[in-house]
Amino acid sequence: MENIKSYVNQHKDRFIAELIELLKIPSVSADSAFSKDILKTADAIKSALEKAGCDKVEICKTPGNPIVYGEKIIDKKLPTILVYGHYDVQPADPIDLWDSPPFEPVIKKTKIHPDGAIFARGACDDKGQMYMHVKALEYMVSTNQLPCNVKFMIEGEEEIGSVSLAWFVERNQEKLANDIILISDTGMISNSQPSITTGLRGLSYVEVEVTGPNRDLHSGLYGGAVANPINILAKMIASLHDENNRVTIPGFYDKVADLSKEERAEMAKAPFSLDNYKKALDIEEVYGENGYTTNERNSIRPTLDVNGIWGGYIGEGAKTVIASKAHAKISMRLVPNQDWQEITELFKKHFENIAPKSVKVIVKPHHGGQGYVTPIDTIGYRAASKAYQESFGVAPIPQRSGGSIPIVALFEKELKSKTMLMGFGLDSDAIHSPNEHFGIFNYLKGIETIPLFYKYFTEMS
Ligand code: BES
Ligand code: MN
Ligand code: MN
Repeated sequence: MENIKSYVNQHKDRFIAELIELLKIPSVSADSAFSKDILKTADAIKSALEKAGCDKVEICKTPGNPIVYGEKIIDKKLPTILVYGHYDVQPADPIDLWDSPPFEPVIKKTKIHPDGAIFARGACDDKGQMYMHVKALEYMVSTNQLPCNVKFMIEGEEEIGSVSLAWFVERNQEKLANDIILISDTGMISNSQPSITTGLRGLSYVEVEVTGPNRDLHSGLYGGAVANPINILAKMIASLHDENNRVTIPGFYDKVADLSKEERAEMAKAPFSLDNYKKALDIEEVYGENGYTTNERNSIRPTLDVNGIWGGYIGEGAKTVIASKAHAKISMRLVPNQDWQEITELFKKHFENIAPKSVKVIVKPHHGGQGYVTPIDTIGYRAASKAYQESFGVAPIPQRSGGSIPIVALFEKELKSKTMLMGFGLDSDAIHSPNEHFGIFNYLKGIETIPLFYKYFTEMS
């Protein structure tokens, strides 16, 4: 594919302009105020797939947000690649921490992105990465170089647990039949050291409510004599980790797949600077489970984190009150062999157990999913590796990620196919945070690398 580089070069301004248009639509799935924008985004992707050369594109209705499906089947005997991505984005809050409005994309240069980066919610996660595949298809179709069949499935509920996608996949096994699933919704080590994501963590997300007295009380008249649910919740949460920063829920680690010494030594070879890591986050010291490195703590080890905590008076000034209720949202990142439903149950039992009689506790499970590890002795991995080698001029390193894409394990179960995670984002791209961005270099490199994967995967199949 001699001319992919020149094609990208020739069309890059348009590629960037098209992505910017897509980023202007605030397709926030968590907030129903944006449901019109969700539909508008699905429409925009449908026409983008049609223009890029799909033969059949449809907007598939589900009980929730629609799924955009497209395909180009050139020969039933050739392999089929199923591209998955998501068009929904995380809420933009807290908006005042953005340097520019989240849905008015701007290009700015940064230290890590000297060629510029597009700043907008969804730039990296996942509109920018998903759109690389649309532009890669445009290239292959318009230059008559599509080597195999391709199907696209772009959903609008990834950030809220992919519930409708699970429903859709269970009902459309035949339609979605494929030889490999291809996803760009993860990251890589750096722009000079590409990596292929070989693992994702599972997730169990719960919400807890602690209720003390039946109403808010004067903290002088009642303080000291009744349980304060906020004090109790803080105590309960603090007890969920021990002095080694290990999770104290009985049975939590029972099924954790431990890595061998050799595997850990192999992992430690990936380039990583603890100093730079600390500097980038402006922290004196890192923190985590004793006996593990930073890269192990955020990929091969399970965790428990409070994501939000509230209750009582948080307005201006002081109000002397003991609130009736306290709340927290808690996520547990899981690793292979931990079952998310089992962990959710263990959490619930334990949390109810440690609550003193003076309060009532409700544990409400949200969504979750299984972790995933991809083998590297496959055609898919070898084809991806060769593609990166060619486009970056450097061999990629396999690396397990700490993030979660729960639907990947479900794909394997329902569609019996493996997934290749070819992510082009960087950890510093601030996904889910204010000032999310995606490097222009990364966007264009992705468009360049994807057709090479198609070519080598087809050749090796
Ligand atoms: N794209 C991310 C997951 C990700 C990012 C994996 C970077 C690896 C590297 C995805 O959109 C996401 O945010 N997933 C959620 C889970 C989901 C069930 C809400 C997550 O990881 O918090
Ligand atoms: Mn994503
Ligand atoms: Mn996300």
